[in-house]
Amino acid sequence: IEKTFVMIKPDGVQRGLIGEIVGRFEKKGLKLVAAKLLAVDSKTAEAHYAEHKERPFFGELVSFITSSPVFAMVWEGENAVSVVRSMMGKTNPVDSAPGTIRGDFGLSIGMNIIHGSDSVENANREIGLWFAENTLTYSKSGDVWIQ
Ligand code: GTP
Ligand code: MG
Repeated sequence: IEKTFVMIKPDGVQRGLIGEIVGRFEKKGLKLVAAKLLAVDSKTAEAHYAEHKERPFFGELVSFITSSPVFAMVWEGENAVSVVRSMMGKTNPVDSAPGTIRGDFGLSIGMNIIHGSDSVENANREIGLWFAENTLTYSKSGDVWIQ
């Protein structure tokens, strides 16, 4: 079963969207297996976004992510990585469809509310980076009606 790393960025936390976003993933049938609210240091932010190190917006991205708390989570479920990506919507809110998180709540490519791992490989790397403590394994009564 797949796990994916999801982070509500500082703008999402400041705008009071944690409950809305968590509720969407819960209702979808994904299972929350780790979560924490934290202030991010620049070392973690830089490691997280290492693939964008050479991009012109890298400095801006790191200072945004470290500017105010984020809500970090791990969600589990069948095809969790791609399910979360499609529920997030496209990176640029101009292209993200209504009904997606960015499509419903975002207006700017810099402040686009949410991060989700883009591959199983990156999900494993990011879960290792953000959650040194283990994720939880548990059953929920509704599991049999979801998969
Ligand atoms: P993440 O889930 O945050 O990784 O977004 P993504 O996978 O949809 O996009 P990508 O990995 O390509 O870019 C990472 C983040 O960098 C985006 O979510 C944006 O917040 C930011 N970003 C991407 N392109 C730009 C840009 O042109 N300008 C600015 N300011 N930020 C950008
Ligand atoms: Mg990305």
